Amino acid sequence: MLAELALLAATRTSPALRRIGLVGDGVRLWSRRRRCLREWQAHEHHCHGVVQRAMEGLPRRRKAVILGSGLARDIPLEAMAAAFDAVILVDAVHLPVTRWRLRYLNNVAFVTADVAGIADWLVGAARTRADALSQWRDDPAVDLVVSANVLSQLPIGPEAWAEAHPAQAIVPPATLARAIVGWHIEDLLRLRCRVCLLTDTEQREYDRAGTLIDRTDLLHGHELPAPDRAWDWTVAPDGEAGRGVTLVHGARGYADFRHAWAG
Ligand SMILES: C[S@@+](CC[C@H](N)C(=O)[O-])C[C@H]1O[C@@H](n2cnc3c(N)ncnc32)[C@H](O)[C@@H]1O
Repeated sequence: MLAELALLAATRTSPALRRIGLVGDGVRLWSRRRRCLREWQAHEHHCHGVVQRAMEGLPRRRKAVILGSGLARDIPLEAMAAAFDAVILVDAVHLPVTRWRLRYLNNVAFVTADVAGIADWLVGAARTRADALSQWRDDPAVDLVVSANVLSQLPIGPEAWAEAHPAQAIVPPATLARAIVGWHIEDLLRLRCRVCLLTDTEQREYDRAGTLIDRTDLLHGHELPAPDRAWDWTVAPDGEAGRGVTLVHGARGYADFRHAWAG
């Protein structure tokens, strides 16, 4: 608890990203991974395999950009830092513990940015949504972009904020989540380099007997093509999200998402 409070106080981000709650979410992510290490490591292992496959066969390995890098656990960061001239970790929140852990990787840089491009717009600090990935689309040295389990997360803070501030809603809260997921998919498809997508797509809730009691579409109606790999990720074993409740996410990996999308 004390460690969480210290992290909350020490973590820097933009005022809009802080207002929509992403610093607190980042600290909770760090805590939950520590509590659910065994279950999460299995998921991270699958993710690493997909990113390794995305790196194979790239004619050049200059810059790699990781969107939603977070704790940088679901990407094979050491292998990437060895293979690329530069690896750029992009997230709304880079916890000091993550920066400290990775300090020995000299070609890894941290960029604090809103991958969805809507935080400023949402809180009234901008007139429109920002072209969130233009910096990476316009940089010809970017050879790989990995969207690292951020797609389903992008709507969570904005949706909660919009529900708490209905008078300021730019898009009705009911349609905001679907719009945000769609915008990120479009942004990925407009990139010019290889794009690797890691994402969870649905949440299944089981009771203690292992009976399925609820199912939630994490992509708000968006359909994705067949993945290179699909697996289950136990995000919350029994006791984490409630007594007798287990939350399992269906996860997918695309080594070359634009190619998969084009069919
Ligand atoms: C499930 S975590 C991703 C896991 C991460 N790749 C790892 O290995 O820890 C989702 C990440 O998305 C980030 N995120 C959520 N909304 C964001 C936004 N609008 N812009 C940038 N990052 C965002 C969160 O801060 C969090 O680090």
